[in-house]
Amino acid sequence: MIARAIAKRAKVQELKLSPLNVLVLHGPNLNLLGRREPGIYGSLNMTEINRQLEAEGQKLAVKVLTMQSNHEGVLVDAIHDALGKHQGILINAGAYTHTSVALRDAIAAVNLPTVEVHLSNIYKREEFRHHSYIAPIAIGQISGFGAQSYILGLQALASYLRQDILGL
Ligand code: DQA
Repeated sequence: MIARAIAKRAKVQELKLSPLNVLVLHGPNLNLLGRREPGIYGSLNMTEINRQLEAEGQKLAVKVLTMQSNHEGVLVDAIHDALGKHQGILINAGAYTHTSVALRDAIAAVNLPTVEVHLSNIYKREEFRHHSYIAPIAIGQISGFGAQSYILGLQALASYLRQDILGL
């Protein structure tokens, strides 16, 4: 009885500490961050955001793989490729957020827990940005905190995945 409880506790500790693999996807035009409308998207470029994500990943024991594409099909392929390699997805789909049924279907198809992030608060902006095709199949959305949206999203995803693995 006691031995089983100790073994269970050890397993929980092991799962808490075992590294997670997360895929970070940046959609169209996010390669221009830093110079693209800095009043809306901030002055950090994508490489700097990726570095911050990797540093946060180290603290959280999360291995972060980042990629960016301006092409919808490339992003769909990356989502398919995540199966068996990554336990979760963090995505800023950029403008495809508001247009892409294909990205939404890809995320639904692989059924990997996904957090949607945006640098700007999409609900404070033009009406066409208020609708997200991804939101209904994401575990959650973080919007409006600049580069910090990505960090908050990674923290939320890591915490969700660990609780999920532990069956909490
Ligand atoms: C964005 C918001 C989208 O509406 C826009 O098309 C982007 C960036 C954001 O991070 O705030 O490209 O996803």
